[in-house]
Amino acid sequence: MKTVRRIGILTGGGDCPGLNAVIRAIVKTARNMYDLEIIGFSDGYEGLIENRYRVIRAGDASGILARGGTILGTSNRADPFRFPVLQDEEYIFLDRSTQAVRNFESLGLDVLIAIGGDGTMAASARMLKKGLPVVGVPKTIDNDLVGTEQTFGFDSAVVTATDAIDKIHTTAQSHHRVMIVEVMGRYAGWLALCSGLAGGGDIILMPEFPYDIDAVCDAVRTRNARGKTFSIVVVGEGAKAIGGEVVVKRIVANSPDAIRLGGISHQLAAQIEGLTNIECRVTILGHLVRGGSPSAFDRLLATRFGVEATHMAARGEVGRMVVLRAQKMSSVPIEEVAGKIRTVTPDHPLVKAAQALGICLGHAADVPLEKQLKEHKTS
Ligand code: F6P
Repeated sequence: MKTVRRIGILTGGGDCPGLNAVIRAIVKTARNMYDLEIIGFSDGYEGLIENRYRVIRAGDASGILARGGTILGTSNRADPFRFPVLQDEEYIFLDRSTQAVRNFESLGLDVLIAIGGDGTMAASARMLKKGLPVVGVPKTIDNDLVGTEQTFGFDSAVVTATDAIDKIHTTAQSHHRVMIVEVMGRYAGWLALCSGLAGGGDIILMPEFPYDIDAVCDAVRTRNARGKTFSIVVVGEGAKAIGGEVVVKRIVANSPDAIRLGGISHQLAAQIEGLTNIECRVTILGHLVRGGSPSAFDRLLATRFGVEATHMAARGEVGRMVVLRAQKMSSVPIEEVAGKIRTVTPDHPLVKAAQALGICLGHAADVPLEKQLKEHKTS
């Protein structure tokens, strides 16, 4: 096996708390245990394609454990196989993967540690086939990567969203309103489910389970009848009504994954207000949950991922993504992860717990979620 001396690192996709904690763990482990040199690429795969990099020394990684964002910068437009280039005021997509491999080789790098979500892992799986030795580290506030029990960044997002829901609670109570809190998460409802449960939400709507607006309004009315003159609805940005469509906030022309979701809560507020005559207000948390300092849990998880990824890189164990399995570090082939997302299932223990608490998940309480979903799919 070739001796590993130089490692490249990059952070790709939407940022999240904990990215700097991973970078710090890689730099420290590489120095303390292997005496490896670290090259950091700017803005994800964009930096590798455009040869924008710098040497990351121990001092660069010092004092960044608690800092949000990423010292390397990131991009969610940098797929080496569909790289956007502006031509005659329009974006065209070019395959720049060969250039990326060439840059990697000319820097004398042995391994690339790619820290990112599903887009970064999908690109990494294809780069592997082109001969780029990659080790993956799973990040995202959406928690939707397959293979790992949790991605780093998710816990911090849950903490921030829960704090927001707590604050919304008091004003909801004072004004006897229905308060709708919309959270990110794309096509997965993990953030809505976990922050909704932790924040004591009354109704939680997730992309995986199209909601019945009558069931939602019934839940609000039932609470009112019991003397609870306010309700908290937590909705994932990818949620939709039965027979409805997701709400697209914008199309990002130069992004390989162009659709950005957001705004379902306004539709929901109009419907609930129209059907119940109870005043509704909307709060869209948006990028707020991606910012700030990582939670203690995320600092630990990110640190463990960074340490493990460096061991894997030093051992030449490439083509794999480090994962959390039964609370232990392990790894899976990157190609097993690429192009898939992990969504909330009706039998998940947290879904069952929400139902046991009487939280409305967008369906009539007397109909099992699985049955209603089956009927909805066949109708
Ligand atoms: O994947 C992370 C995420 O924050 C999603 O939850 C959200 O839909 C998307 O990124 C937003 O992307 P952008 O930062 O491009 O608006």
